[in-house]
Amino acid sequence: MVNQAAREENSYNKTILANSVDATGEFAADFAKWLVLNGNLYQKNVVCLRGNLGAGKTTFVKAFANAIGIDPSIVKSPTYTYFRKYAVGDITVYHFDYYRIEDLNKRDIEEFLEIVDGNNLVLIEWPDRIEEYLPDDHFEVELEVVDENKRKISINEN
Ligand SMILES: Nc1ncnc2c1ncn2[C@@H]1O[C@H](COP(=O)(O)OP(=O)(O)OP(=O)(O)O)[C@@H](O)[C@H]1O
Ligand SMILES: [Mg+2]
Repeated sequence: MVNQAAREENSYNKTILANSVDATGEFAADFAKWLVLNGNLYQKNVVCLRGNLGAGKTTFVKAFANAIGIDPSIVKSPTYTYFRKYAVGDITVYHFDYYRIEDLNKRDIEEFLEIVDGNNLVLIEWPDRIEEYLPDDHFEVELEVVDENKRKISINEN
């Protein structure tokens, strides 16, 4: 049986008030390092990002990517497709953005499930579009706009 202390050490539940883009970036970077560099990725490989338009989801993903060695200038929301992928070491990071997607067809869903089942790290903006296909075990990042430069951000494990 896994004891409680060990469980807590390996779980990630944090909330902050980020007063700037940089503060959001630091929070994202800490999480990325814990997840990828500290070897916690095997537990859960899907990160859902929720929040209104302009809340900071893509900003979070860029800083997350930067922290694990992906050039943040190449990370941007997919335009002609709904995901982009980046290789880093032996990990492939997928960044999905379902904002423009109304209906996903069967092939889209199969492709999503294959990516999640594979040895990949998957970050998803607007995950509500694919809610019913999300693995039960995943991380939830919620971003709330407090004012122009402030965001309340929480990361929780599901
Ligand atoms: N503390 C902060 N954290 C993150 N972004 C901030 C913060 N303060 C201001 N911003 C600004 O808010 C905007 C966030 O944009 P971003 O594209 O990351 O949002 P998004 O949630 O991905 O939106 P969308 O739903 O359109 O994809 C940027 O212009 C950024 O500079
Ligand atoms: Mg975005």
